[in-house]
This record gives sequence, structure tokens and C-alpha cells, in this order.
Amino acid sequence: MFRLDRERRWNAEYASGTWRRLGTLDELAHQAMLSSYFARLKPGGSVLDVGCGEGLFQQELRGCYSRYMGIDFAEPVRLARARCDAASDAPCAARTEFVAVDMHDFVTHERFDAVVFNESLYYYDDPLRGLARYTEFLAPQGVLLVSMHTKERTERLWDRIGERYVVVDAVTVENCHGVQWMIKVLAPQTDSASR
Ligand SMILES: C[S@@+](CC[C@H](N)C(=O)[O-])C[C@H]1O[C@@H](n2cnc3c(N)ncnc32)[C@H](O)[C@@H]1O
Repeated sequence: MFRLDRERRWNAEYASGTWRRLGTLDELAHQAMLSSYFARLKPGGSVLDVGCGEGLFQQELRGCYSRYMGIDFAEPVRLARARCDAASDAPCAARTEFVAVDMHDFVTHERFDAVVFNESLYYYDDPLRGLARYTEFLAPQGVLLVSMHTKERTERLWDRIGERYVVVDAVTVENCHGVQWMIKVLAPQTDSASR
């Protein structure tokens, strides 16, 4: 799919409410697991949320961060900003930013304690390349937090990720409909010794 078509499709799907289901209880397990990992490993730290959608992970963090940046296409970012504004928590809003940008193009000089791919890594053209690129945005001792819906293709992807990253921790969660997600904490191999 061409880039522009992809962007249009995501924007249209968010505008029509297709992805509203991500905010239901059925999806809570992976959102909650990711935020628990962040709270345990990087309490009060900074976080970059790649493919942040409507900002559900940001909401799940309940303001327990020094800096949150979520990136996604324009329509989900619009919804995320509206959700955040509606929460009317001014101090939290000041530490929070949603940026409309294609994840393939995003660059920053900021460094984050955690980079999160919450059901978004497999939308990167080359997911391993994407992980490598976003690893560069990690602060020293930073971690990647990745959640992927369990499917054959994500199992193959996890295998390849495991060859390049240290798996600090991993957990599988399943909802009452038998839908499963695997969530992993990954560290770059270079600084694993001091973790
Ligand atoms: C399955 S949704 C998950 C959204 C969010 N992480 C959550 O769990 O609620 C995948 C997200 O990735 C975003 N996405 C896909 N391709 C992208 C790209 N090239 N650049 C930025 N965001 C992208 C979509 O717009 C969508 O918000």
C-alpha cells in the first residue's frame, strides 16, 4: 500500500470509530501490562509511544511520567489530544505531547527512558529496522516495551527480535475470549551487562 493511502486509511478508520474497541475491557490486559512495566522499571520516567492511537496508553499511565510523547497520524492524534484535554489535568497536559507524523519519518533529539510499541510495531515497513531506529531514541539504560497480538507472523517476528535484543522480561496475557497478546521488555544488547 502506498504511504498516502495508508495514512488516509488509518485516518478514515479512526474518524469512523473502527478502532474505538481498543478502549474496551477486552483490550485492557496489554495496556495495563505495559503501564505496569513502565511504572516498575522507569517510575516517573519519560516515554515515547509510537503509533499511540487515541492515547489509551497515555491514559493508562495516569500521569505517572515526567514526559510523554505520542506519535501517530493526524486523526488519531486529534482524538488523543481531545481525550487528554477532556481529562483537564493541566500539570499532566504540560508534560504530554501528541505529534502527527509517520513513524517512518519521525526524528528527535530527545532521549526517552522507554519507547513503547503498543500493537504498532508490525505496521512498520521493516519492523526490525524500526526497532533499531527507535532504539537510538533511548536514554542510557532505556527499554523498549512491545506488545503484539499473538499470531503466527508475530511469533516469527518475536524470534527475530530475540536474536538482536535482550529480553528482560516477557508475559502473555489472554482475555476472556481467548485473544492473546505477548508483551516484552527489551534492552539493546550493548548495555545489557549493567541492567
Ligand atoms: C492497532 S492501532 C494501536 C493504537 C494504540 N497503540 C493503542 O494500542 O491503542 C495501530 C496504530 O498504529 C498507527 N500507525 C500505523 N502505521 C503508522 C505509521 N506509519 N506512522 C504512525 N502511526 C502509524 C495507527 O494509526 C494506529 O493508531
